Amino acid sequence: MKDFDNKKIFITGGSSGIGLATANLLARKGSHIIIFAREKERLEAAKNEIKDNAVSKDQKFSCMQLDVSNHKNVEKVMLNAIKEFGTPDVLINCAGRAYPDHFETISFEQFDETMKTNLYSIWNTVSVLLPHMRKKGGHIANVSSIAGFVGVFGFTDYCASKFAIIGFSEALKSELKPDGITVSVLCPPDTATPGFEVENRTKPEETKAISANAKLMYPDKVAEAFIKGIIKEKFLIIPGFDGKFTHIAKRLFPGLVYYIMDRTIKKVGKKK
Ligand SMILES: NC(=O)c1ccc[n+]([C@@H]2O[C@H](COP(=O)([O-])OP(=O)(O)OC[C@H]3O[C@@H](n4cnc5c(N)ncnc54)[C@H](OP(=O)(O)O)[C@@H]3O)[C@@H](O)[C@H]2O)c1
Repeated sequence: MKDFDNKKIFITGGSSGIGLATANLLARKGSHIIIFAREKERLEAAKNEIKDNAVSKDQKFSCMQLDVSNHKNVEKVMLNAIKEFGTPDVLINCAGRAYPDHFETISFEQFDETMKTNLYSIWNTVSVLLPHMRKKGGHIANVSSIAGFVGVFGFTDYCASKFAIIGFSEALKSELKPDGITVSVLCPPDTATPGFEVENRTKPEETKAISANAKLMYPDKVAEAFIKGIIKEKFLIIPGFDGKFTHIAKRLFPGLVYYIMDRTIKKVGKKK
């Protein structure tokens, strides 16, 4: 995907945070965009914001209510989206949620909902759209996290979903290569979004202390790195220095990464 001008982009979770920043950036690059999420008012407001970033009056923008965790709903809404808009050139799976807490406090229902929203959602959209996308090629970009390659205190359900996204995407990438469909995974670090604010309400002190070791990023910077990565057909896209450093350190010196985290956790424990 060398050029986003006149391309059709589907973005789940496009009404807020990283998804919205990505949609705004793509609107400035001449794309036609549909965003999907559950809350109608936020969707409409986001669509108008994205429209304001358009560079041509021929660009099309739309929004559709969708629950990515519900396969039947995804099937119905995505097929309608194709009817209205045509087959996407790029599918961005950005919808997600995080409610960090200690393992014992996380209910089975929360685990189930996290897996459905973060992981099954991607299976749902890809399985419906791929038969259409295969005909013309394109790009699928899934959103994981730094917590998709480092297990972080307080994120047992979230890490399970985000690690799985990387495995799923790696296997899919290999399968789709012959069809001219490229796949990438975005692994953002902590990013100042409405979702991050929600996350902070339940974060254990240990998790907050670990987060404080890295710099908070802003959604527009994450979106820039995301789009640059897609243009370069990178598989793993990690915005910012801290995230890249963590990825290299985890690969080369995993013991060091866990030593730093364990030390941080111990310090918090001593203060309690
Ligand atoms: N912010 C961070 O620090 C950070 C770090 C690493 C990774 N990430 C990942 O980046 C992605 C975006 O995060 P964000 O911080 O930008 O979140 P955000 O501000 O909370 O936005 C989440 C978006 O997903 C939508 N969404 C949530 N559940 C949905 C569902 N069941 N069906 C359809 N849409 C749904 C939300 O809209 P509705 O609620 O209206 O449905 C909203 O548009 C997520 O996958 C997140 O895990 C974020």
